[in-house]
Amino acid sequence: MKSFTLAIESSCDDTSVALVRADAYVKFQMQVSQDKRHAVFGGVVPEIASRAHTEALIPLIDQLLVTSQTSWEQIEFISVTNRPGLVGSLLSGVVAANTLGQVFNRPVVGVNHLEGHIAAPLLWDDKQDQPDSQPEYPWLVLAVSGGHTSLYLVTAPFEYQMLGTTRDDAAGEVFDKFSKMLGWGFPGGAILDQRAQKGLADPLLFQINQLPHFAYSFSGIKSAAERLIRSQSWSEEQLNNIAASYQEAIVASLLSQVKKASEQFEFKHFMVTGGVSANSSLRKQAQIWAQSVGKRVWMPPLRYCTDNAGMIGLVGWWHYLREISVSKTIVKASPHSYPEDFKIWS
Ligand code: KG4
Ligand code: ZN
Repeated sequence: MKSFTLAIESSCDDTSVALVRADAYVKFQMQVSQDKRHAVFGGVVPEIASRAHTEALIPLIDQLLVTSQTSWEQIEFISVTNRPGLVGSLLSGVVAANTLGQVFNRPVVGVNHLEGHIAAPLLWDDKQDQPDSQPEYPWLVLAVSGGHTSLYLVTAPFEYQMLGTTRDDAAGEVFDKFSKMLGWGFPGGAILDQRAQKGLADPLLFQINQLPHFAYSFSGIKSAAERLIRSQSWSEEQLNNIAASYQEAIVASLLSQVKKASEQFEFKHFMVTGGVSANSSLRKQAQIWAQSVGKRVWMPPLRYCTDNAGMIGLVGWWHYLREISVSKTIVKASPHSYPEDFKIWS
């Protein structure tokens, strides 16, 4: 019986493939991380990323099918991230999906990567129980990653309203830059999180002013941290304290716009998702705040926070079942979201 979509995610620097059922169950997911290849440059190098995806994808899909003992007979269609992202990286996934679609005569569904992150908190698998109920709309969703920081109100299936986004850097990007400045490694978010847990935050060290509407800005704190770090030499303990203060200021800024939105819009469930939702402080504080306003917070387990094919498979199903963006022939890659993907609140 055909019960799975074969999902492919290659929009940035993680090659991920998964088998996902329509009820959000991830049967199997496999990834190849490119972190080591980019670490020497301190950031993602697009050309290296697309070459690495091209090398990794087909062997990884083979391995996924063999390891999970799944045959093409069980695959109904293919889901692939086709926007937004690094165009060479996207193309590697899209070309693989289109080719497999042609060879095995399966439809191909192009998925918006950000819609994938929004869906990620709903995923479940053999290690994570199925949610006891489906979250009723509207959802207030904070999606924070290395490339994006946005707040959405999801009022119904496929009805996404972007309330606000960052004017400059994404939160994950400024975590990464801090780590890079100190030579702590790449990607920096998880490393900074570890160091911050050993430090004590000074709430007066960094402050981020709340912007009008629901906009974010993180370039100021990045420059302030750079000036501070270069101003003198610091002990490891002091650096841990600076990391903790930096992290707390970013988390406070992320949640301050969430709180403002919660006073203006009706919502039933709160979701935090994207690579930065792996951050220990953000997870804790999101939970505390949600509890204080009597809402349930949905956050993916760590393996579905950062880029993963599981989330792409789930959104693939949503569109497949609704029969839109299903192509019997080819899906195109686009570095940007389509104008119809998200309505902009104003
Ligand atoms: O969602 P993702 O894998 O890729 C994009 O779509 O951008 O997010 C990657 C980002 C990186 O900037 C990484 O440093 C950050 O997520 N990240 C974290 C943590 N784990 C990953 N940031 C803060 N704390 C963490 N624990
Ligand atoms: Zn992402």
